[in-house]
Amino acid sequence: MARHKVVASLDIGNSKIRTVVGLKDENSPVINIIGVGIAPSTGLRKGAVIDVEETINSISASLEDAERMAGEQINHVFLGIGGNHIDYLNSRGVIAVANGENEITENDVDRVLEAAQAVTIPSNRRILRIIPKTFTVDEQKGIKYPVGMTGIRLEVETHIITGFEPTIKNLEKCVLQAGVDIDDIIPTCLAPAEAVLSKRQKELGVVVIDIGCGGTYVSIFEDGSTLHTVVVPVGGENVTNDVAIGLRTSIDTAEKIKMEYGSTIPEEVNDRETIDLSLISKTDTHVVSKKQTVEIIEARYHEIFLLVKDELSKIHRDGMLPAGAILTGAGSKMPGVIDLARETLNLPAQIGFPQNYDGVVDKIDDPAYATAIGLLIWGSRFEGRFHAGLRGGGLKKGIGNFKNWIKNLLP
Ligand SMILES: Nc1ncnc2c1ncn2[C@@H]1O[C@H](COP(=O)(O)OP(=O)(O)OP(=O)(O)O)[C@@H](O)[C@H]1O
Ligand SMILES: [Mg+2]
Repeated sequence: MARHKVVASLDIGNSKIRTVVGLKDENSPVINIIGVGIAPSTGLRKGAVIDVEETINSISASLEDAERMAGEQINHVFLGIGGNHIDYLNSRGVIAVANGENEITENDVDRVLEAAQAVTIPSNRRILRIIPKTFTVDEQKGIKYPVGMTGIRLEVETHIITGFEPTIKNLEKCVLQAGVDIDDIIPTCLAPAEAVLSKRQKELGVVVIDIGCGGTYVSIFEDGSTLHTVVVPVGGENVTNDVAIGLRTSIDTAEKIKMEYGSTIPEEVNDRETIDLSLISKTDTHVVSKKQTVEIIEARYHEIFLLVKDELSKIHRDGMLPAGAILTGAGSKMPGVIDLARETLNLPAQIGFPQNYDGVVDKIDDPAYATAIGLLIWGSRFEGRFHAGLRGGGLKKGIGNFKNWIKNLLP
C-alpha cells in the first residue's frame, strides 16, 4: 500500500494567513488536499512583522483551523513570504567546461550557477531562489538543460530572488514559535502559477497577477520556464485607502464599502445612485456617491495593471503573451477586473482557479487560495532538493542540489 505523508503550506499574507494541509502519496505527484485554515493577519505591515505576539497568534489560529478540518497535526510547513522587501536581479555566469572530452556534466552546471551568484548582494539580503532561465553552450543559445552536451564554454542566465534578511528572520521566528518547523521558504510570487497554470500555458507564454493586500505579485512564463518575477508595491490595501480618503471615511468603513458596493465599471452606475453609510457603519453616517466610489476603485486597479504592463515592457513582452493574464489573489474578485485587465494589458484575461490538486475541500475553489496551494505544490516537488538559506556556509549545500531541482523545472 502506498504511504502517505502529511504536507502543509503557510501563506503569510498582509491581510490573511492561510494554511493548506495535504497528503502526499510517494507514487503520485498530485497532492490530496484534506484541510485549510484561515485567520486574519494582524501583526504584519507590507510583509514585515510589526507585532510579534499578534503574528504568532494569527499563525497559530490559521494552523489550528486547518488541523481541525484535516484531523491531522501539522509539524512542518512550506513557508511563503511576500511583501515589498522581495526583490530580484538578473545575473549571468560563465565557465569553461572542465571535462577533457568537453562533455558537460552536472558538476559544470553547479559551477556555472555558482558563478552566476558572484554578483554583489548586500549582506542584509538573503537569496531565496536562483532560477536558471536559459543556458548557452558555445554559440548555441536557448538550452534548457545542458548536461550531456558537448562544448567548451557554458553560460547561464539566472533570475535571482532575494529578501530582506531581518524581515525573513522575524517571520521565521514567529513561525517557529507558533510550533511548526520550516521545510523551506518560498517567495510567494512564484507560488500561484504552480496551482493555476497548465504546462501548455507556461509553454505559450503567460503572466500570473496575484492581487493581494499589500502588493501585486507578478510572474511571467515562456517556453515552459520562469522568465521574470516582480512585486508591484500596490494592492487591495491601496484601493481601500483611496476609498477612505476620497469618501472621508474610516479604513474599516472603506473596506466594507469596497466589498459591498465595489466594482471597476463606473459606466454601469447611475450618477444619482448613493450609498447610505449608516447602513454599514456606526461611526460614518453620511451619504456618498456610488459612482464616485466606483471611479476611485477603478482608477487604482487601472494603475495596478499599468504597473504590470510596465514590467512586461521592460522584458519586451507587452501585449505579447499568447496565453494572456491569469488573475489570482482575493483582490482579483472585484467585479469588472477581468475586462479592465484585458483592456489595459491588451491580453486575454481570466481568473485563475486552483486546479493542480486532488481533494474535495470546497473552500479552496477560490483564486485567493492559489498562493497557499501553489506553495504546497512547489514545496513538495522540490522537497529535499533545494534549500533556501544560500548564504555563507549554506551556499555549497544549496548548489549541490541544483541538478535535481533544474530537472524539475523543465517542461
Ligand atoms: N471579494 C472581494 N472582492 C474584492 N476585493 C477583495 C475581495 N475579498 C478580498 N478582497 C481584497 O483583497 C485583498 C486581500 O487579498 P489576499 O487575501 O489575496 O491578500 P494577502 O494574501 O493576505 O496579502 P498579500 O498577498 O499582499 O500579502 C484585500 O485588500 C481585500 O480588500
Ligand atoms: Mg497573498
